[in-house]
Amino acid sequence: MSDKRRTSGEPRYRIAASILSADFARLGEEVGRVVEAGADFIHFDVMDNHYVPNLTVGPMVCEAIRPLTQATIDVHLMVKPVDRIIPDFARAGANIISFHPEASEHVDRTIGVIKEAGCKAGLVLNPATPLVYLDHVLGELDLVLLMAVNPGFGGQRFIPYTLDKLRAVRARIDEIGREVLLEVDGGIKVDNIADVARAGADTFVAGSAIFGSPDYAATIAAMRAELATV
Ligand code: DX5
Ligand code: ZN
Repeated sequence: MSDKRRTSGEPRYRIAASILSADFARLGEEVGRVVEAGADFIHFDVMDNHYVPNLTVGPMVCEAIRPLTQATIDVHLMVKPVDRIIPDFARAGANIISFHPEASEHVDRTIGVIKEAGCKAGLVLNPATPLVYLDHVLGELDLVLLMAVNPGFGGQRFIPYTLDKLRAVRARIDEIGREVLLEVDGGIKVDNIADVARAGADTFVAGSAIFGSPDYAATIAAMRAELATV
């Protein structure tokens, strides 16, 4: 991470708790508990049974949890087409909206739709999606999200070559010298988070590692302890 980032007053690392692995029957309570436990972001996974083979939640659920927390709501759209639903999530209180280039006919336009709606814009690259998608638009983005699993399900194993992609994106972000979050999603656990940070990530999505543990605060504290060693 660049020194510029470290002096900006922002935290060096952020934990984004993915509610995909929360108890949906008690979602509001789960959001409160995980923020109380130390999560920085609520990572909100939106799946459409079309772009990905699973179906989750939409803007109405985002709107329902918005009053429950001041935490950043980090919406990860796994939907195709994507543009039409973006203003709905902005109205529902999303802070960051990220999308996959394969789900957009016009990536630059979709970034513009997110910004015009008043949100920060992120681009998500699947494990096999090449970094060339960043060539022309990195300067327009607030966040790059690298998938370390194929999107659609929680609880999958971290794909190791993601580390090489992280190092490459870290170098590109440092080169342009403005703040762009580098988030990683899938298979993040207490025992690999430090290696992932060393490869350049600053924002870590964790679903099953947190919500599958008996004590969310202890798990997040263990992640931060690992990050402190980096
Ligand atoms: C997968 C989702 C992830 C998922 C991560 O498509 O985008 O956010 O919840 O889950 P874990 O942390 O269990 O791999
Ligand atoms: Zn996600």
